[in-house]
Amino acid sequence: MVRTIKLNDGTSIPALGWGNMGGSAKAINAGAAAVKAGIVHIDSAQIYGTEREVIQAIEKAGHKRDDIYVTTKIFSFNKNPISADDIRASVQGSLDRLGFVPNLVLIHNPFIPTKAGMSLGEFWGHLEALVEDGTLKGCSIGLSNFRPVDIEEIVKVAKIKPVVNQIECHPYVLAHIQPVLDIQTKHGIVTQSYAALTPVHSHPTGGPLKPILTKLAEKLSKESGVEIDAAGVLILWTVCKGFVCVTSSGNEERIRNMAATEKVRDLTKEEIEEIDRVGQKVHFRQWDEHMTTDFPDPKLPSDA
Ligand SMILES: NC(=O)c1ccc[n+]([C@@H]2O[C@H](COP(=O)([O-])OP(=O)(O)OC[C@H]3O[C@@H](n4cnc5c(N)ncnc54)[C@H](OP(=O)(O)O)[C@@H]3O)[C@@H](O)[C@H]2O)c1
Repeated sequence: MVRTIKLNDGTSIPALGWGNMGGSAKAINAGAAAVKAGIVHIDSAQIYGTEREVIQAIEKAGHKRDDIYVTTKIFSFNKNPISADDIRASVQGSLDRLGFVPNLVLIHNPFIPTKAGMSLGEFWGHLEALVEDGTLKGCSIGLSNFRPVDIEEIVKVAKIKPVVNQIECHPYVLAHIQPVLDIQTKHGIVTQSYAALTPVHSHPTGGPLKPILTKLAEKLSKESGVEIDAAGVLILWTVCKGFVCVTSSGNEERIRNMAATEKVRDLTKEEIEEIDRVGQKVHFRQWDEHMTTDFPDPKLPSDA
């Protein structure tokens, strides 16, 4: 059994996903390893150039398309202005490369419509039309890297509410993204986290959470008999907060460890609160090109 999260359109999404950014070989081989390990959710995108590889990974693992929850994301248009037909062609391109209708289509960032001369609300309306006319039959639609102001623009006009907003989300950006989380809660939009492992793989020292994650990893490993490291604790923190965790690895042992988090108990309220409290003492972001424009980072040190 895997943890799942209910979305506002009545569907469910597996709480742990494996992202296939990073090239074709990784998308196929590590993607197959992820599926074999029991991860039933693959996150792809037009810009990764790995939509074709999704089905190859699934089949290499001996599974069928319907066994796996699949996401893709619409990226940029090389023209301005764009029309409804351009959006249809972009989505159709993804359907052709994937070879099936995915479970979830996201707008990769809020500047994609505006750089192409279309408002966010109008773009969303054209995406809704593709659900309504059956092009995206059974497919959920959502957002990525949307700031509070962008989300407001969508919900003002939406007939179909976005189901998720996929954003950089881990304890070291928690202070910054709180307004995003608040508006998502208000509108029933689930937070989908990427870069969830930033505190372990990118922070120069590991920051103030390092000893806490290490201690919790030891405790959970002892309790469960499953090998859990600091990255596994961050995955558990993410999903236990009700967020979807889209993470990744090209390493089969790490992939198996990620999948094994499904066999470990939920973090307690106190364990989650300690990670929240200590994480919010610092601010350390990996991806700032979208989320920080007109939504500045908090004035916090990057280490403590
Ligand atoms: N919507 C967006 O704009 C957006 C942006 C970025 C990413 N994403 C999605 O999110 C996915 C994950 O992105 P991300 O790479 O930023 O996320 P991440 O989950 O923070 O990091 C993944 C990295 O962590 C390393 N790692 C895995 N397990 C580890 C462990 N136990 N200890 C230490 N390091 C470990 C992996 O390296 P190894 O391969 O060496 O194990 C991999 O490079 C992407 O594939 C993509 O699908 C979306």
